[in-house]
Amino acid sequence: MSDNDRHPFLAGLSKHRGAQPTCLVIFGASGDLAARKLLPALYNLAVDSLLPSDFTLIGFGRKPIPDAEFRQTSSSDIEKFSRREYRKDIWKRVCDHTYYQAGGYDEFAAYEGLKAKIASAEKTAGRPLQVVFYISTPPTVFEAILENLGKSGLASRGLGTALESKVIIEKPFGRDLASAVHLNTVAARHFQEPQIYRIDHYLGKETVQDLLVQRFANPILEPLWNNRHVDHVQITVAEELGVGSRGGYYDHSGATRDMLQNHTMQLLALTAMDQPASLSAEHIRDEKVKLLQSVQPLRLGSGGDAVRAYYTAGLSGGETVVGYHQEKDIPASSFTETFCALKLSIDNARWSGVPFYMRSGKRLARRVSEIAVQFKQPVSGLFAGDSRYDIAPNRLVIQIQPDEGMTLVLNSKVPGLEPRTQPVRLSFRYATTYGSNTPEAYERLILDAIVGDRTLFIRGDETEASWRLFTPLLQSWEKAGKQSLESYAAGSWGPSGADELLAAQGHTWRNAGR
Ligand code: BG6
Repeated sequence: MSDNDRHPFLAGLSKHRGAQPTCLVIFGASGDLAARKLLPALYNLAVDSLLPSDFTLIGFGRKPIPDAEFRQTSSSDIEKFSRREYRKDIWKRVCDHTYYQAGGYDEFAAYEGLKAKIASAEKTAGRPLQVVFYISTPPTVFEAILENLGKSGLASRGLGTALESKVIIEKPFGRDLASAVHLNTVAARHFQEPQIYRIDHYLGKETVQDLLVQRFANPILEPLWNNRHVDHVQITVAEELGVGSRGGYYDHSGATRDMLQNHTMQLLALTAMDQPASLSAEHIRDEKVKLLQSVQPLRLGSGGDAVRAYYTAGLSGGETVVGYHQEKDIPASSFTETFCALKLSIDNARWSGVPFYMRSGKRLARRVSEIAVQFKQPVSGLFAGDSRYDIAPNRLVIQIQPDEGMTLVLNSKVPGLEPRTQPVRLSFRYATTYGSNTPEAYERLILDAIVGDRTLFIRGDETEASWRLFTPLLQSWEKAGKQSLESYAAGSWGPSGADELLAAQGHTWRNAGR
C-alpha cells in the first residue's frame, strides 16, 4: 500500500510539494471543456503554487494550431473563465512550457509526434517526467486514443515506478452497461486499474467531499441515519440553463445519461453508504460499490419508478425561452428527455423501506443541487392533533450548490402568550464561515491525479454497477419512443408525473428554498 493509499483524503494538498515532475497532455485541447474548466483550473493551481516545479502542458487536437497560437488562446480562455483574476506573470511559468500536437485521434503518427514532444520536454527539464493523459474529447474517440496510447508505448511509460503514466477519462463513460464494460476492457488492455482515473466532476466539489466529514465525523447523525428514523430522501440536481450550444451531444445523451447515471448516483452513494474501513481510496470506493449494488432494479413502464420529460417554451430567469425541440441541433422528432425523476429502493438493513427520490433536469425553476433527508414524524406526541402547533418533520438539507451549506429544520415555540409553534432553520453557510473563494472541482481533481490520489475518481466496477441499474430503463425508453414521454414548461419544477411519483407514497418534492 502506498502512502497515498493510506492517507489519501487530504493528500492533494499535503502532497503537492512532493508531486512528481509532470507533463499533462490534454486530448481535446481546443474544446469547450478545456477552455472553460481545465485551463482555468491549471491556472488556479499555478496561482496557489500547487503545480509541480517541472510542469509541461501539451494540447492535442485535430485542428492544426501553432504552439504560439495555442499559448495565446489558452491565456485568453483563462482570462475569460478563471475564478480568479488573470495574471500574466503567473501563467507565463506554465505558458513558456506549453506545446501543441495536431493530429487525428486514430492517427498513429500523431502519437509518435507526441512522444517526441514529451522527450523534448524531458530534455528541457533535465529529468524524466510522469505523463498524465487527460481525455476530454467526445466519447466517440475515447477508444481510439486508448488504443494508440497503448500501441505507441505511451501507456506503459514508467510502469511500476513513481513516474508511471496515468489516464484521466472524462464522462460519459459508456452509454449503457455493454459499452461501459467494453471501454473498461479497452482501457485495461493498455493501462492497469491504478493508472486509470474516471472523472465525475461532482466528486471534486467541496460540498460533495464534505459529505464524508458530515456523515462520519458527526457521530450524532449515525444513530439516526437509517430506516428507523428516516422517512425518505430527496436528491435534486436542477439546472436553470437549457442545452445551449451542446444540442448535438445532448440529444444522444439525455438527462439520465448526462446527470443521473453519474453525478446523482455519486451523491446517492455518498449519502447512503456505510462507513468505510478507512479513508483510503479503495475502502471508500468499496463502500460506494456495495451501496450501488444494493439498489433494487427499477420497476419499468407506466406507474413504475421512473418519469422522463422534455421542456417546452416558457419563462426562465425572467426571459422567454424556446422549447427543447426548437433548440439548435435538436431534431423535431427527438424523444430525448431533459428531465428524469426516479424512485429508488435500497435493499439493505439500513435502508430497506426508505424511498430515495432523485431528479435532475434542465430549464427548471432554479439552479440547485441538494440532498434533503426527511426524518419521520412521530405518530403521536405531545403536540399532535392541535392546530395551533405547526410541527414539521425534522429535515436535514445539504446544499451542494449554489449557496453551499447545511440546514437543519427543527420545531420551536413562537414567542408570546399564545401556545404556538413553528418550524425554524439552523443554517450553516460556506460563504459566511469560510469565505467564498472555493477551488473549482477540476482544480482538485487534476491535482489529485497528478499526486496519484484516486479517492475522488470512479472505479471500473462502480461505473458498471450504476449502468446495470440504468440500462434496462434506457432500453425500455428507446423502445417506447415518445410514448410515456411527458413535457414541462421551461422555468417550472418539472412534469406532473414527477409529483405523482412521490404522491403515491404521500410525499411531495421539496421545491428548494421552501
Ligand atoms: C455536466 C453535464 O457533466 O454537468 C452538463 O454534461 C451539466 O449537462 C453539468 O450542465 C453541470 O455541472 P455543474 O458543475 O454546473 O453542476
